[in-house]
Amino acid sequence: MRVLPEVRADTYDALVTGRKGSKFGLPLDQVPRAITRIRASTNLHLAGLHAHIGSQILEVEPFVAAVRALADLGEFETYDLGGGLGGRYTYDDHPPEPEEWIGAITDAARRYLPASSRLIIEPGRSLVARSGVTLYRVVNVKRGDRVTVAVDGGMGDNMEVALFGQRFEATVIDRVGGGERVDLVGRHCESGDRLSSDVPLRSPRPGDVVAVPVTGAYCYTMANNYNGALKAPVVFCADGKAREVVRRETLADVFARDTSSPGR
Ligand SMILES: Cc1ncc(COP(=O)(O)O)c(C=O)c1O
Repeated sequence: MRVLPEVRADTYDALVTGRKGSKFGLPLDQVPRAITRIRASTNLHLAGLHAHIGSQILEVEPFVAAVRALADLGEFETYDLGGGLGGRYTYDDHPPEPEEWIGAITDAARRYLPASSRLIIEPGRSLVARSGVTLYRVVNVKRGDRVTVAVDGGMGDNMEVALFGQRFEATVIDRVGGGERVDLVGRHCESGDRLSSDVPLRSPRPGDVVAVPVTGAYCYTMANNYNGALKAPVVFCADGKAREVVRRETLADVFARDTSSPGR
């Protein structure tokens, strides 16, 4: 049963899922009654408690607090502590190492949970975010009060910035490091269609390829056809070899489900 442990985690507001009032899970004061009702049922079996307190969390304390909150609710076979460990998106992000996160959770479990209980975790972005890099072509550079570098992608392939303001680094692929501070923006018709604000790029010009690293989580999965944008291909690279695993989308793909198209 998913419960809302009502702990504070310092992350983007839209990624907080364990705070009082969040839409996820039963509030703590309703849990005892739900447990009693499920235990009285002949059709339901309560295996344990589940909490997922948010995403892109860069400290271990909120996870420990969640374990304590679950411990106060009684003894169960299973405790699922969800995911939430952050990734290093920018040079300023310093997430705990996975070992530190696991260590803190298991220490707290040993301390507060029944010895025979089973522990489940559901890490997502901390496993996969760093394995993705998105490549864009620069289509325009506008100089004025700010330098705006527009590329051939944006909120169609990366919703994380528009949804909650995730910060990303970026670089021109053959001129890495340093340079002028620019706003890297997408091709869609919203001012919120940004990939990175105030990021250093070295002498960006149309035709350059710009890499945005750490896009392996929640980018491909949230890709969309807004403004009729076609989804990018996915290429796996390892040991000097590249292999296309998802081909570039075509207009025929987009219209394939459109039953009003001529000829259908
Ligand atoms: C219930 C649940 N578990 C795990 C995850 C994975 O979270 P993360 O990628 O932050 O580790 C999510 C993400 O939304 C989730 O909703």
